[in-house]
Amino acid sequence: MAATHGAEVLVASNRGPVSYEVLPDGSLNARRGGGGLVSGLSAIGPDAGAVWVCAALSEADREAVRRTARAGRLPAEVTGGQQVRMLDIDAGVFSDAYNGISNSVLWFVHHMLYQTPLEPVFDAEFRRQWASYVTYNRAFAEALAEEAAEGAAVVVQDYHLTLVPGMLRELRPDVRIGHFSHTPWAPVEYFRMLPDDIAEQVLRGMLGADRLGFLTRRWADAFTACCEELVGGLGTTRCGVHALGADGAFLRERAQSFDVKERMLALREEIGTAPDGGARRTIVRVDRTELSKNIVRGLLAYRQLLADRPEWRERVVHVAFAYPSRQDLAVYREYTAEVQRLAQEINAEYGTPAWRPVVLHVKDDFARSLAAYRIADVALVNPIRDGMNLVAKEIPVVSDSGCALVLSREAGAYAELKDDALVVNPYDVIGTARALHEALSMAGAERAERTKRLAAAATALPPARWFVEQLEELQALSR
Ligand code: G6P
Repeated sequence: MAATHGAEVLVASNRGPVSYEVLPDGSLNARRGGGGLVSGLSAIGPDAGAVWVCAALSEADREAVRRTARAGRLPAEVTGGQQVRMLDIDAGVFSDAYNGISNSVLWFVHHMLYQTPLEPVFDAEFRRQWASYVTYNRAFAEALAEEAAEGAAVVVQDYHLTLVPGMLRELRPDVRIGHFSHTPWAPVEYFRMLPDDIAEQVLRGMLGADRLGFLTRRWADAFTACCEELVGGLGTTRCGVHALGADGAFLRERAQSFDVKERMLALREEIGTAPDGGARRTIVRVDRTELSKNIVRGLLAYRQLLADRPEWRERVVHVAFAYPSRQDLAVYREYTAEVQRLAQEINAEYGTPAWRPVVLHVKDDFARSLAAYRIADVALVNPIRDGMNLVAKEIPVVSDSGCALVLSREAGAYAELKDDALVVNPYDVIGTARALHEALSMAGAERAERTKRLAAAATALPPARWFVEQLEELQALSR
């Protein structure tokens, strides 16, 4: 089955580097995909000769594959020369696998987001969706088997594709298979919430890989514990940690562009000046609107700060960018609405004609995110649980004059940034309010010093090296 002219290096992920939209005149417009995984993998670049296999995520994507793909590949002018094979998977199967199993079950398990009344019910509907997840994983495994050269290295990404390593191993025993998780891994007591046979399929699917990668030791250990408890251990599969860092060179250059400067001016205008005429302090957060990001408790902590520390009223603004994500799922839509409602409530409670305490934006705008990063006095990164959190790493890199980082101990980034961050328990709103006060009060010189050290730690493993490191480890294994 080995293809004679196959690729030596392959990447597989649900979301690819481009996504399409249909314009009013019926033509297709391609855009760069978002999220931590795409930022990490985009650094591979077209020169590596790698083939990137991804799924069509929308009707526009599927239409683009039908209209423009040749031999399954998207046109090079759209992908910047990268070889991208986008799989046109049946819309219903895709939705079950992505919205159902991946984002409503596996995402919730690894981020420990289930809580009353949002508890899982593994019923016949779940089993039907699981069958789609299997079909969707098989589509990836078959495409990879077709594309891979003899002995090729294949790096499979994330919780959408846990079954691919095992399936690909059966189709192509000759290839070296890696799998990388961009999420946390659940503790065994929580992971066991999945039906036994499903938990086992997930673990055995991943153990089809030669090597597994995680963002921190903590997640790798949790995975190992699950394997020991549920399937008798890791077997011959190796496990490694690769702490994806920020792309310092790219961010610093991009942050100097004209569009970022324009947005800084607009943001300063929105933030306004303190009653004494000085600049207002800013607490910045930038997230996908996602339950694990804990945006609501962040707003509650800010409200607590305004209640406990009246001296900050009119002198601080909370700039919160909460970009829509996974809007096909009702819980995400409801969460977005709750964030908006709470921001309005705080503005109504404390705002004055001259001061809007919360500036909330929900329309995704990368240049505006960078503008906020540059002017932030305080960065608030308080997820309930997060594989890494690249925002915590990006802000110190582009900050103009130093930024104090309030960081959840449950973010993967905590392992590398804890020494110079103000660390919080994400559930503790009072503690978070106290940390915000401390961050706002930090002397400029100390803030600048800490920011320098945070930026160095944050860029220790930039995306291109993160990828090459894994690839080399994989290629060094014998098959
Ligand atoms: C998480 C996942 C990534 C994904 C990102 C965006 O970070 O680990 O794999 O790229 O979320 O999620 P989405 O569902 O929009 O692709």
